[in-house]
Amino acid sequence: MRISSLSLPLAALGLVGSAAAYPYSEADTITRRAAEDQAKADAVKEAFQHAWNGYTKYAFPNDELLPVSNGFGNSRNGWGASAVDALSTAIVMGNQDAVQKILDHIETIDFSKTDDMVSLFETTIRYLAGMLSGYDLLKGPAADLAPKSSQVDALLSQSKKLADVLKFAFDTPSGVPYNNINITSKGNDGSKTNGLAVTGTLVMEWTRLSDLTGDDQYAKMSQKAQSYLLKPQPSSGEPFPGLVGSNVNISNGHFTDGAVSWNGGDDSFYEYLIKMYVYDPKRFASYKDRWVLAAESTIKHLQSHPDPRPELTFLASYNNGKLDLNSQHLTCFDGGNFILGGTVLDRRDFIDFGLTLVDGCEATYNQTLTGIGPDSWGWDPKKVPADQKDFYEKAGFYISSGAYVLRPEVIESFYYAYRITGKEIYRDWVWNGFKAINETCRTDSGFAAVSNVNAVGGGSKYDNEESFLFAEVMKYAYLVHAEDAPWQVQKGQKNQFVFNTEAHPFRVAHT
Ligand SMILES: *[C@@H]1O[C@H](CO)[C@@H](O)[C@H](O)[C@H]1NC(C)=O
Ligand SMILES: *[C@@H]1O[C@H](CO)[C@@H](O)[C@H](O)[C@H]1NC(C)=O
Ligand SMILES: *[C@@H]1O[C@H](CO)[C@@H](O)[C@H](O)[C@H]1NC(C)=O
Ligand SMILES: *[C@@H]1O[C@H](CO)[C@@H](O)[C@H](O)[C@H]1NC(C)=O
Repeated sequence: MRISSLSLPLAALGLVGSAAAYPYSEADTITRRAAEDQAKADAVKEAFQHAWNGYTKYAFPNDELLPVSNGFGNSRNGWGASAVDALSTAIVMGNQDAVQKILDHIETIDFSKTDDMVSLFETTIRYLAGMLSGYDLLKGPAADLAPKSSQVDALLSQSKKLADVLKFAFDTPSGVPYNNINITSKGNDGSKTNGLAVTGTLVMEWTRLSDLTGDDQYAKMSQKAQSYLLKPQPSSGEPFPGLVGSNVNISNGHFTDGAVSWNGGDDSFYEYLIKMYVYDPKRFASYKDRWVLAAESTIKHLQSHPDPRPELTFLASYNNGKLDLNSQHLTCFDGGNFILGGTVLDRRDFIDFGLTLVDGCEATYNQTLTGIGPDSWGWDPKKVPADQKDFYEKAGFYISSGAYVLRPEVIESFYYAYRITGKEIYRDWVWNGFKAINETCRTDSGFAAVSNVNAVGGGSKYDNEESFLFAEVMKYAYLVHAEDAPWQVQKGQKNQFVFNTEAHPFRVAHT
């Protein structure tokens, strides 16, 4: 199905005619390459602008556009999630109009009011991180985009106000927070346990807030919660060194299971262990040590190769002595995370393993009719659905959920692979994926989730556009083709920024 990487996109952009027919010098090649990159970066900007126009026309200042009906939704408490999530992308794209509209909005948000329960995790990674990242970028390398400094300061004061609204969630016997809270009654949903990812994906945002405000209460709360994940009790909560269970008891911080994976629900706990070390290698060396243990155990115990295509690598999950041969689009951040850890720690083995994970995730994209990968897939030979036997033999996996809900993780890992290896193939894969998303999901007002990536046109469209389309898909697809900049991922220990799990770049502590 897929077309070899360079010829079609170039022709489609009108950049090459018969040029390939005659030889040109190396300098010409570099100039042509630069023009081609710029054209691709501009094409991503066009897609961002299309989605931004639709959102502002039909949905702003609500949370998200309904891209089929042109209505709006408020799935994230009605504070304008798409606008706040779009800020750091608008900044790196240099989109002054969008930046201004978002800054005008943020200073008016009343984070003390909502009709719905609040997710501590989602609110932290989208709103709190969106504002903190905007602050870091606009106080730093993108200062020229924000003429009113009071509006930049408001990003930090609103961050503090939001954290002050949320912080009662940590007020539990152990300090492990409730995730689903009622900010009006200061109540919660009565959960006895909290998940690994939702507990372990707060520490970057809440630490950054403390570092910027000089008020250490936020860092302390998030690091206290994290402490139970770093020193897991009881031993059944850590079946392999560094790899831990999925849930902790809110009353004492003990793990309640030993089910291990890098899938949704667990994923960004591992992601943040190494990212905290990038953020501040002095304060977070112990987080790095835990990440190294987890990474080594993952290579040893979770890597898995489908029978029909043993050259592919996927990550299985583990529970009670058994491997479960299923993976998810969400899991595909793993390649990028291994590559980041490998470059920062100068561990070639981690980079190489990350690249094999990247290849596996690319395989889920390039085997479907649309060229987009499924939301989840399996490779257990005993569970192949009867109607997917041929597909499984050819592709090496069968599709468990064929939806695509505008997730970024595959393109995200291609971005890390490109930035660290410099190999063009990874940019070509981003471009292929991005074109496929543009062709399959685009509506008159934005981009819609689709039901079946292995059906013509993606099956049917869902009337939903998650805010992470703006924060993540657009950002990684753009940055891989954009010029070098202080916020871009760098090799080795040169990173000036580190991306939170929603792709919001935070300035690292020591710069
Ligand atoms: C939150 O608590 C307030 C005050 O007790 C109550 O009126 C409201 O219905 C609760 N909200 C939710 C979503 O449960
Ligand atoms: C959590 O720990 C408490 C003891 O502090 C115990 O009574 C309770 O049963 C545990 N809950 C779960 C879900 O494991
Ligand atoms: C499909 O993915 C594999 C990696 O599994 C890669 O080697 C191959 O080049 C890809 N094909 C295309 C057409 O992108
Ligand atoms: C995205 O789709 C629009 C509308 O069909 C088209 O004009 C644009 O060129 C496409 N962009 C890419 C990168 O394919």
